[in-house]
Amino acid sequence: AMIHDQKLERGEGGELHQIAVSDGPVLTTAQGAPVSDDHNTLKVGERGPTLIEDFHFREKIFHFDHERIPERVVHARGYGAHGYFETYESLAKYTRADIFQRAGEKTPAFVRFSTVAGSKGSFDLARDVRGFAVKLYTQEGNWDIVGNNMPVFFIQDAIRFPDMVHAVKEEPDRAFPQAQSAHDNFWDFISLTPESMHMIMWIMSDRAIPRSFRFMEGFGVHTFRFVNAKDESTFVKFHWKPKFGLQSVVWNEAVKINGADPDFHRRDLWQAIQAGNFPEWELRVQLFDQDFADSFDFDVLDATKIIPEEIVEPIPVGRLVLDRMPDNFFAETEQVAFMTQNVPPGVDFSNDPLLQGRNFSYLDTQLKRLGGPNFTHIPINAPKCPFHHLQQDGHMAMRNPVGRVNYEPNSFGEGPRESPHRGFRSFAEAEDGPKVRLRAESFADHYSQARQFFNSQTPPEQRHIAMALTFELSKVETPVIRERMVSHLLNIDVGLAETVADKLGLKQLPKAADAAVAPRDDLEPSPALSIIEN
Ligand code: HEM
Repeated sequence: AMIHDQKLERGEGGELHQIAVSDGPVLTTAQGAPVSDDHNTLKVGERGPTLIEDFHFREKIFHFDHERIPERVVHARGYGAHGYFETYESLAKYTRADIFQRAGEKTPAFVRFSTVAGSKGSFDLARDVRGFAVKLYTQEGNWDIVGNNMPVFFIQDAIRFPDMVHAVKEEPDRAFPQAQSAHDNFWDFISLTPESMHMIMWIMSDRAIPRSFRFMEGFGVHTFRFVNAKDESTFVKFHWKPKFGLQSVVWNEAVKINGADPDFHRRDLWQAIQAGNFPEWELRVQLFDQDFADSFDFDVLDATKIIPEEIVEPIPVGRLVLDRMPDNFFAETEQVAFMTQNVPPGVDFSNDPLLQGRNFSYLDTQLKRLGGPNFTHIPINAPKCPFHHLQQDGHMAMRNPVGRVNYEPNSFGEGPRESPHRGFRSFAEAEDGPKVRLRAESFADHYSQARQFFNSQTPPEQRHIAMALTFELSKVETPVIRERMVSHLLNIDVGLAETVADKLGLKQLPKAADAAVAPRDDLEPSPALSIIEN
C-alpha cells in the first residue's frame, strides 16, 4: 500500500493532527487487536503522565527492547543469498550421499559470506579471511560445508581457537582495533605460533581483499570422507571455483572503498542478483585414498596444509548458482545456523583435530546465539526433506510430536523408527592408541608450504605480500614481536625477510626461527622485491 498523502485530521477530542494517509491494512498489536492511534501514548489528560495500562505502548516497546540477539562470536558480519546446487553426474561410486546420485538434480541452497574479525557493523573490505558457508537442503538432510575463501587455516588444533580469536579481535583494555589484524596482540600470537605461517602468507596476499563475493574461491579446508553404499571410504577436499574467476582489490583501493562505501560487497551481491547476473561457482573435489594419504609429504589431517592441485586434480562435480536475495535479512541471513557436523549419509569426517573441535563448537554456539534448542524450527534452518523425530518442548517449540506417542519403540505402531539400511553410518575407521595430548610429528613442517605459496605468486603479488607485512608490522609497537616475525620469514623467503626488515628499519637481521623441520635450501631472494617503493 502506498502512502497517498499527508493531511490534517481531527482526533478523539476534536484536536487537529497532521497524519499520513494510506490504504494499507489496519495496524494491530501482536495479539491482533486493531490500533486506533500509534503515535500517542495513553495519558492522564493532554499533558499528564503515561499510564501503565497502555498495553499497546508496552507491547511495542517491550518487543523493540528485545530485538537484538548476540552477534556471532566470529564471522559476525555476513551477507547471504538463496540458490541451488546442480549435480553434474552420479558419484555413487564414491558416495551414497543422495545429492550426488542423479545427474541434473537441483538441490536448494543458502550461502552466507562473511568477514571473520570485525563486528556486525564493520566494513566490508577488511584484510581478513572470508567465510564461505553453504547449506545444501538435500533429500537426506541438511549438509553444511562451512568453509572459507582460503584453503588453509591458522591453527592445527581446535583447542587453540579461542586464543587465536581473542588475539585478532579488539584488545580488551582499549577495545580496538575493531576489524584489523594490524596490532600487537595478533602479531604476538602469530609470531609465537609458527603453524600459522602458511595461512599468514595467504592473509597477507591479495586474496585477503576480494573485489566481490562473486569473484572469490571457497574451500572446505579439512579432509572429509565420502562413503559409498558398500561402506568404502574415499578422502575428499571441497573447492568452490567462481565461474567468473578470482578478482581482488589492492590495499589503497580497499582503504578508499571502506571509507566511501563500507557495504561495498553487500551492495555488489544485492545489485548483481537483482539485475539477474547470478553468481556461480563450480564444486570440484580432490579425491584420494589411504595409500595416497600415507605417501603424501604432509599430513592430510593438518588444516594448515593443502594438497597441491597438480598432485591431486580437482574434479568438477556440480555447480552452485545464487539467484535470490532473502526477503528478510534477520530471519534468514542472521538466523541461519551453519554447523560442520551437519552431514548427510555418505559424507563423513576425518580425524582432523580442528574439524573434530568445530563439530562440537557450532552446535554449542547456536544454542546460545539463537536462544534455545529449537533453532531448527526457524524456517531457514529446517530441512526441506521429510523429517520425523521425537524431540519436543523447550523454548519456542513450533513443532511437537502429534498424537499420543512420543517415544520409541512403542506398541501402537506409531511414530518414526530407526533404519539401519537408510540411516547415517559412521565410517568404521579402526582406532587404537594411548590417550594423550600430543601433536603428531607429521604436523611439524610449518614453512615448506608457506614458501611454496610465496613462490607461486607473480612478482607484483609478491611485492603486495611484502608491503602488507610491512604495513601490518609497522603498527606493532613491541620490537621483539616484529623481530620474531622476521625470524619466521627467514624460513620462508630470505628476500622477503630482508625487505620487510629493511622497511621496518630493523638494525640487524635476527637469526632464523628454530624449525623442527629444516627449511630446504632453495632460499634465493626473489628479485621482484628489490623494487618496492616506500
Ligand atoms: C563461524 C568457517 C574454524 C567456531 C564460522 C563461519 C564460517 C566458519 C564460514 C560463519 C558461518 C556463517 O556464515 O554463519 C571456519 C573455518 C574454520 C573454522 C573454515 C577452519 C578451517 C573454527 C574453529 C572453531 C570455530 C576451530 C571452534 C573450535 C566458530 C563459531 C562460529 C563460526 C563459534 C560462529 C557460528 C555462529 O554463531 O553461527 N566459521 N571456522 N570455527 N566458527 Fe568457524
